[in-house]
Amino acid sequence: MKRVQDKVILVTGGAMGMGQTHSELLAEQGAWVFAADLNQEKGQAVVEGIRKKGGKADFLKLDVTQEADWNAAIAQIIERAGRIDVLVNNAGILIMKPVQDTTNDEWDRIFAVNVRGVFVGTRAVIPHMQKAGKGNCRIPDDCIDSRRYPLFMARAVLQALIEEHEQASKGARTP
Ligand SMILES: NC(=O)c1ccc[n+]([C@@H]2O[C@H](COP(=O)([O-])OP(=O)(O)OC[C@H]3O[C@@H](n4cnc5c(N)ncnc54)[C@H](O)[C@@H]3O)[C@@H](O)[C@H]2O)c1
Repeated sequence: MKRVQDKVILVTGGAMGMGQTHSELLAEQGAWVFAADLNQEKGQAVVEGIRKKGGKADFLKLDVTQEADWNAAIAQIIERAGRIDVLVNNAGILIMKPVQDTTNDEWDRIFAVNVRGVFVGTRAVIPHMQKAGKGNCRIPDDCIDSRRYPLFMARAVLQALIEEHEQASKGARTP
């Protein structure tokens, strides 16, 4: 039995890099992958590649900073697949600059994509997972890294949110 056989999985940033790899590996393991990205051309190519190997995949246009995009993407998944089992919050931007060289706009963009995008998307899928009585939202571990760059500071905020969520799900709330 493949590990994610017949799971319906949404991978954000699925058109390139790690998101492409997540999409391909999950499809190889039997999942129905919805690869969502800003980049339609590359995303569509990833989906075609998965299908050629016998996997099940669809592309969805999604800007993770836009709540309307999330709602439209999730509505399409529910319409086609009937449920969403896993959300892989992979989409992110890398602005590899030291703090002193990072502009306010770059900082805001990092938070909009890498942090707020995860919050908005996770919030959008929760009602569907609650209705189904199961579901999982993941942030790939590689996204949590050192705090040297603002990018990783943003990710560190997410790490704290994850820890809070884990504590809450065990019944112990942090102050
Ligand atoms: N590659 C690394 O070494 C590394 C290290 C640490 C963290 N990360 C994190 O891992 C994740 C993926 O990294 P990667 O190297 O694969 O990046 P990448 O740039 O190769 O791919 C990112 C994908 O996300 C998409 N994307 C960007 N903004 C988006 C948005 N607003 N909405 C939807 N899609 C969007 C891009 O179009 C692209 O397809 C990112 O969150 C990144 O911050 C990567």
